[in-house]
Amino acid sequence: MNIIVLSGSPHQNGASSALVREFIRGAQDAGHTVERFNAAFANVGGCKACNYCKTAGSCIQQDDMTMLYPKLEAAELVVFATPLYYFTFSAQLKAVIDRFYADPALKNGKKAMLFVTAAGSATKAIEATYETMCGFLKWSDAGRLIAGNCPDAAALGSHPQQAYEMGAAL
Ligand SMILES: Cc1cc2nc3c(=O)[nH]c(=O)nc-3n(C[C@H](O)[C@H](O)[C@H](O)COP(=O)(O)O)c2cc1C
Repeated sequence: MNIIVLSGSPHQNGASSALVREFIRGAQDAGHTVERFNAAFANVGGCKACNYCKTAGSCIQQDDMTMLYPKLEAAELVVFATPLYYFTFSAQLKAVIDRFYADPALKNGKKAMLFVTAAGSATKAIEATYETMCGFLKWSDAGRLIAGNCPDAAALGSHPQQAYEMGAAL
């Protein structure tokens, strides 16, 4: 399977990155092709809501999304991995998601997964957003790993192992 992981944390060695690394290792061990896009280290502007894309068929902004759009279109599974920021995706990852607006070809029956790390346990809002977004995009949920009470990588316990197994089981 062709998989793209959209990673939203600015912590290169943080909690969600640890889950991403293990998930990728598991998926690669199972023979899948995985690419990682680090939204927090990419140049991705917020959607300008200019609607240029609705007539031109492509986004007016020429940034790292230009390279990401074809990879997203080709992906069979899109993994959203994020620290919980004010009960939802990090702004860096949300900017990528908002830019899906310019590419209707993304509504093509993909699978999705959600990986969240959070200092607390109030993760209902991001899960509801993820579910609603998947419904809108016509993507199906292929699994979630919600690591609550994990302010940093040291607190992850068995979650990295779970992430590995989720990748390996695909
Ligand atoms: C700007 C900001 C907002 C945060 N908001 C929340 C929150 O709403 N709920 C929560 O449980 N943790 C919150 N946290 C804590 C992080 O989600 C948590 O430490 C996470 O595991 C960090 O993941 P990372 O190491 O991958 O960046 C916030 C942290 C930051 C920096």
